[in-house]
Amino acid sequence: MSAEFLLRRRRRRQWLRRRTVFVVAALTRADTPGRQSAVLSGVNDIETELRKRVFDAARAFFATAHAPKPFVPGVTYVPVTAKVIDERDLVSLLDASLDLWLTAGRFSRDLEAKLPARMNRKGNALLVNSGSSANLVAISALGSPMLRDFNVKPLERGDEVITAAAGFPTTLNPIIQNGWVPVLIDVDFATLNALPETVMAARSAKTRAVVLAHTLGNPYRVDKIAEWCRREGLFLVEDCCDALGATLQTATDSGAAAAPVGSFGDYATLSFYPAHHITTGEGGAVIARDGRMRRAVESLRDWGRDCWCEPGKDNTCGKRFAWTFDGLPCGYDHKYVYSTIGYNLKMTDMQAAIGLSQLDKLDGFIAARRRNWQTLFDAVTSNPALSEGLIPVRATPGTEPSWFGFPMHCANGVDREKLTRFLEEHKVGTRLLFGSNLAKQPAYKGIEFRRHGDLAASDEILKRTFWIGVHPGLDAARISYMVEQLEAAVKAARR
Ligand SMILES: Cc1ncc(COP(=O)(O)O)c(C=O)c1O
Repeated sequence: MSAEFLLRRRRRRQWLRRRTVFVVAALTRADTPGRQSAVLSGVNDIETELRKRVFDAARAFFATAHAPKPFVPGVTYVPVTAKVIDERDLVSLLDASLDLWLTAGRFSRDLEAKLPARMNRKGNALLVNSGSSANLVAISALGSPMLRDFNVKPLERGDEVITAAAGFPTTLNPIIQNGWVPVLIDVDFATLNALPETVMAARSAKTRAVVLAHTLGNPYRVDKIAEWCRREGLFLVEDCCDALGATLQTATDSGAAAAPVGSFGDYATLSFYPAHHITTGEGGAVIARDGRMRRAVESLRDWGRDCWCEPGKDNTCGKRFAWTFDGLPCGYDHKYVYSTIGYNLKMTDMQAAIGLSQLDKLDGFIAARRRNWQTLFDAVTSNPALSEGLIPVRATPGTEPSWFGFPMHCANGVDREKLTRFLEEHKVGTRLLFGSNLAKQPAYKGIEFRRHGDLAASDEILKRTFWIGVHPGLDAARISYMVEQLEAAVKAARR
């Protein structure tokens, strides 16, 4: 450190000490509102300076404690997913922590305001504590009595909801938890997604909604499914937990345009778990088609209450003690009126603060994921030793995925279990397509489903499919090591 730097630091510290002594003394003497506010502006100066010092220290800490470690092939594990965090995320987290507000606050409001634009939506998103919670409240909202306020009939016990058999359990679970009947449809083996014609053919007189995830960042043709749902009066929930940033080419009056996933359904859900495109540690969000649909989710997220005040606020509606509800005394405090059977699934402000700094980097993250997927795809398809053993999943025609991973099917004669074991033993992380055919998972024995068709592709996925990483933390050295190990694994896994 230079002498000039040390001198400046000493002077700043001396200033801060003098200023603090002065402000504390003035605060005890300030006996009028005018004097108090003058003193408080001094407190703000001190706070700003102290925050700056905390942030400078945090940056120095980050550079030391979280410096990138060298990659040693065969020794360093190459995870299938990884959060990509930098000093800006740490500073944002500390900024929120120093507020000691802790629950949803200024950072949450900001993130809720910024997210909908990523899905061509207006209004505010609703932050929740996970992607699973996002699915829980978005799907449960289809049965909310609040829908009646705008003449929409909520789903009732025994109604059917079409969903894919192959995928993540918490896309399916809220349907079961609400007492609705999941109609399990098969997916297209080539893209891992449900096809519009399969969705349409699965409909019965009891069907009220469609809930589908864009699998591993590869969009389904949600434009076609949404148009059909609109015509048929069905709800549509897009689980975009793995697909933030994926787009579809759609025809508009002024030509073709790219429309983001999440901009078609009644609700879009997101996950910010560390594996996902951006992270808040744990976290998720719901983006609603309009303010009325949003309110049904908000109530479910916030204890089921009718009131919509933010944490720390009262009387946002301006008539807190002037509402009347059947069965409650006239003027019963609106804060404690419950219109839905709800939960408390809010995100904290510290998580939202990281989400905001991550969101600034989202476009770069998506570009890196697409680049890494393309490199792996080219490597697998151009090398006969690989292309004869592995069948990469294809992008759905007419879409641009925002890949979550690089999914592949094992060709006949290649044993998926041997192959993934080999890769893991050689430090390359692997994952399956979550529960594959969920109907075959132990948790769902005895659950009432309606199966549409034979779910043959989902059963193949159960036996033959796996994926490896494309996250932005992968560099050229890691990717070429992954390709090398894939080739060795295919050889080792031949039956
Ligand atoms: C498609 C899909 N939906 C929902 C979730 C749940 O997200 P979370 O882990 O944040 O609960 C996941 C998790 O990865 C997922 O892949």
